[in-house]
Amino acid sequence: MRQPTLTSTASFQALENHAATAEDWEMRELFAADPKRFARMSLEAAGLFLDYSKNRLDGRTLELLAALARERGVEARRDAMFAGERINNTENRAVLHTALRAPRDNKLVVDGQDVNLEVHAVLDRVRSFTDAVRSGEWLGHTGKPITDIVNIGIGGSDLGPKMVVLALRHYAHPRLRMHFVSNVDGHDMDAALSQVDPETTLFIVASKTFTTAETMMNAQTARSWFLGHAPEEALARHFVAVSTNTEAIKAFGIDPANMFPFWDWVGGRYSVWSAIGLSVALAVGFGYFSDFLAGAHEMDQHFASAPIEQNMPMILALVGFWNREFLDAHSVTIAPYHQDLNRFPAYLQQLDMESNGKCVTRDGDPVDTPTCPAIWGEPGTNGQHAYFQLLHQGTDLTPIDFIAALRPAHEMEHHHTALLANCFAQSEAFMKGKTIDEVRADLQAQGLSAEEVERLAPHKTFPGNRPSNTILMERLTPSTLGALIALYEHKTFVQGVIWNVNSFDQWGVELGKVLAKKIEAELAGEPQPANHDSSTNGLIARAKAAF
Ligand code: F6P
Repeated sequence: MRQPTLTSTASFQALENHAATAEDWEMRELFAADPKRFARMSLEAAGLFLDYSKNRLDGRTLELLAALARERGVEARRDAMFAGERINNTENRAVLHTALRAPRDNKLVVDGQDVNLEVHAVLDRVRSFTDAVRSGEWLGHTGKPITDIVNIGIGGSDLGPKMVVLALRHYAHPRLRMHFVSNVDGHDMDAALSQVDPETTLFIVASKTFTTAETMMNAQTARSWFLGHAPEEALARHFVAVSTNTEAIKAFGIDPANMFPFWDWVGGRYSVWSAIGLSVALAVGFGYFSDFLAGAHEMDQHFASAPIEQNMPMILALVGFWNREFLDAHSVTIAPYHQDLNRFPAYLQQLDMESNGKCVTRDGDPVDTPTCPAIWGEPGTNGQHAYFQLLHQGTDLTPIDFIAALRPAHEMEHHHTALLANCFAQSEAFMKGKTIDEVRADLQAQGLSAEEVERLAPHKTFPGNRPSNTILMERLTPSTLGALIALYEHKTFVQGVIWNVNSFDQWGVELGKVLAKKIEAELAGEPQPANHDSSTNGLIARAKAAF
């Protein structure tokens, strides 16, 4: 059945009317009027705490947003996803990344396939393989233990594993050095190969499709490099693959015994929980990898059962939706106040923007409101000294998600105190701002002349009233990291349902891939008729002249 357009729904219209009255709201005043605002607008789940009180909304806004979620059928679509229905309607696939982290005794049969049994059969293989490599029992072809792992993949086959390995570096095996090669730019491969020894290096070729051009080229290059140092029969000790495509793996020359499979119902950007997480399991060990899955599962259970008003992913999604639609927020910045979450904003870029960066609905009609905002960010406090100027005083409103752990994984307590102080101070500053009268008072107190006060005051004024969320966890552990990723996955899902886009396809990446193949042949081959626009022809000609 066709979904009504978003703007035609009663709950959206009610929100529009409400937004007109909310236009002049000042968060300072909302806080002053309700001493319980923080308690009312914060919640806990799966080891995470979310404070969403520093947003320009009130209880009525939340009621209306929850009504919208109900009218758009978010709960029913969520249940359909967990049950394995083919909610990815343009690829006719189920969406079951949640099944990858369900415990062994779960039962889920989809199309006659016992999903849980298959997931745990692969996890058992991941366990024995990673145990063997980590213990030193798995030897390279000259009898030496593995010291370096090179994961070759791109997009979801790179961003997730790389981000998680970095985030959990405190749990990592001391002998194993992890490398990630994703870019077709040879500098990426060159940097990795220059650091490793073919006798002690294990390559993981990670690709859901095993057809992605960058990964295939990188895998071939790694294979040739390796065979320059070792005989063909040594490949089996040094190359493993993670994919859904057994035939392509065989054709590449990897022994199917060294293949870790997964399934077409796992989207690339949702695949770190599958065997695509092999590099994570190698780095931190299967025990911590299981904790990572368990943390995500805890968030899944919360998402699947909590009422909308107390459901953390739903709330995060609804607040984000409000900011996007009614406060005209074109982008959202992610500010992890944790250096080990350095790659988390990049990971969320793919998760959110590849999922919801869509301009047609599931039914193929144009959407009638803006959809996914741009996602970007850097760890705090670094971002404060780079782009926070724009967030505080720029002309656009950019909501911020602050993410922090209350306890560090190091013993330099004073560093951690300073870090948290900055995190909390920034959210306070964004909310409160500083009025021109407050600035004048400060400048007068400093003894400036009346003329100087008036000259400087506009520059030192902060508009404030800028929304943010703060997500806290006790520590960054495998389990809280799992929950954090699952939180954002489900947030993305909920927003996709409200916009009625298919969050699980990514047709928008195809056109560039096709054109790149054509231009690659043109760059590599004999002169050909100039058959592009004048800009593209000109660029190709310049590149060819430089070869
Ligand atoms: O081009 C986009 C994309 O398909 C992503 O969705 C995916 O994560 C990435 O490429 C890599 O795909 P694969 O794992 O099949 O190599």
